[in-house]
Amino acid sequence: MYRTHNCGELNIKHCNYIVTLSGWVDSIRLMKNITFIDIRDFYGITQLLIPSIKKKIKKEYLIQIKGKVVKRKSPNYNINTGNIEVYVNKLKILNKSIKIPIDIKKEYSRNKVNLLKYRYLYLRNFNLKNNLIIKSKILNLIRNFFIKNNFIEIETPLLVKSTSEGARNFIVPYRKKKGYYYSLPQSPQTFKQLLMIGGIDKYYQIVKCFRDEDIRKDRQPEFTQLDFELSFINRKNIFNIIIKFIKYLLYKIHNIKFINIKILSYKYIIKKYYTDKPDLRFKIYEISKKYFKYYINSNYLNYKIYSLILPNYFNIIDINKYVIINLLKDQNNKVLIYNYKNSITNRLDKKVFKNINFIKNIIKKEFFSKKDLLLFLILNDNKNYKKLINKINNFLLRSKYLNNIYIPIIIYKFPLFKYRKGKFYSYHHPFTNPYNGKLINNINKIFADSYDLIINGIEIGSGSIRIDNYNMQKKIFNILGLSKNIIKKEFNYFLESLKFGTPPHGGMGIGIDRLILSLFNKKDIMDFIAFPKNYLNKDLMIKAPSKIIKI
Ligand code: AMO
Repeated sequence: MYRTHNCGELNIKHCNYIVTLSGWVDSIRLMKNITFIDIRDFYGITQLLIPSIKKKIKKEYLIQIKGKVVKRKSPNYNINTGNIEVYVNKLKILNKSIKIPIDIKKEYSRNKVNLLKYRYLYLRNFNLKNNLIIKSKILNLIRNFFIKNNFIEIETPLLVKSTSEGARNFIVPYRKKKGYYYSLPQSPQTFKQLLMIGGIDKYYQIVKCFRDEDIRKDRQPEFTQLDFELSFINRKNIFNIIIKFIKYLLYKIHNIKFINIKILSYKYIIKKYYTDKPDLRFKIYEISKKYFKYYINSNYLNYKIYSLILPNYFNIIDINKYVIINLLKDQNNKVLIYNYKNSITNRLDKKVFKNINFIKNIIKKEFFSKKDLLLFLILNDNKNYKKLINKINNFLLRSKYLNNIYIPIIIYKFPLFKYRKGKFYSYHHPFTNPYNGKLINNINKIFADSYDLIINGIEIGSGSIRIDNYNMQKKIFNILGLSKNIIKKEFNYFLESLKFGTPPHGGMGIGIDRLILSLFNKKDIMDFIAFPKNYLNKDLMIKAPSKIIKI
């Protein structure tokens, strides 16, 4: 037997037990007559106390020990097993290790090539391991939710034809005929629609998607989507599923019972927040720009003025300590603080603004609730003001006050097309139904029956009601400038399928890696992928891509 317990489970209740443990040597401390070893496995770390060690033990050796659990004189409260240690009387080396080329305790850094090259060793890092556990739990919750709601999981092929999702495809050569290629799917889009035409009523899949695009912290060339599609539904039915799903996850993961999911149109969002991915947990924006500037006194026209709206989950004492005091280090900077009704700071406002009430009233419309605070950050126009604002933004984003704050938004009614360099492109993808199912002559003014899900400023997913009509699909291909030849070659199978009594249908694709980022307030999807690619889309561990060597 390799072990009676794992390295993360022994505690005071196990005192006097004789136990066998197996694991890697995390650290060694040699004392006069005694050696301390921390032994580590998937579950944790246990301190070993070895009276007389004869074997030469090094870090990362895999060892097996037998010994008695005893109470520790000086407990380590940072770890589960910190109350005990194991007094070892038998030690066996199961496997040696050469000197490990990375520090597995280090936090991941994109600049450390070795952390990707030796990713299998870095998997011994507890943070990374925990992230993978989180992901596994979320995959489980997703499956539970969709099974409970009568969806069935169906796999779709990976060796396919291009699905025009907007990125470049990865290509796989076909061995039997030179010049022929498969492409890896950017998503199962057309297949899930074909499933609907085939009468599969409610489909979902946890599926790998492939896109050859430049990498960012929220992008990998291969990533995992939760893909779902249903028949006989409208936009509202789908919103209800999304809302139910997000509520389910937040309850199961963070025990959040009440959550208000906003449903807002694209037009409203852009007008109000200037972006289609707003993060509504707090709001900071420059007001010295545009028409606000007419309400600022001439002495302050050279200042950069920002408004910062802080909902009541922020603690103003901390904000004062970390934000305001820092800002006021430069004596020319000023900060004004207001609650819904009054000024909290001083009467400086009259010096700065010609009409403070006007400005306050406009900004009040942006308040999330009457308990919010409004801060005006009045920054001396030196070169540092952008850095300062970034610093404040990052401080607020990382602050503990946001730990359990989730503001999901469903944005709907996007434009159907975007126009670039004389050509129309789909805003989402070419299978999206126009809003209300109709096209109008002014193509720029056609809206789409599409929607995005944003959580805390991260785009988590997007979807739409699909075109279920042959003529409409053909018209859209025409507007997109696809030639008859291309339509025939690339999409004939799909167009043809629309002639056989297609049911009304729609669905969504949710990026699981990004979903986890938003639910755990993290930044980099690499942290949730066991073997990610680097910023050049390369796998540094197996050295892919590579030339093919014929054997
Ligand atoms: P879309 O292209 O918007 O829609 O993708 C859906 C979601 O997938 C995630 N995502 C990514 N995650 C990591 N790395 C990437 N490179 C990457 N690209 C996309 C995002 C995104 O919101 N077939 C449609 C969905 C549908 O209409 O049902 C689609 O794939 O979270």
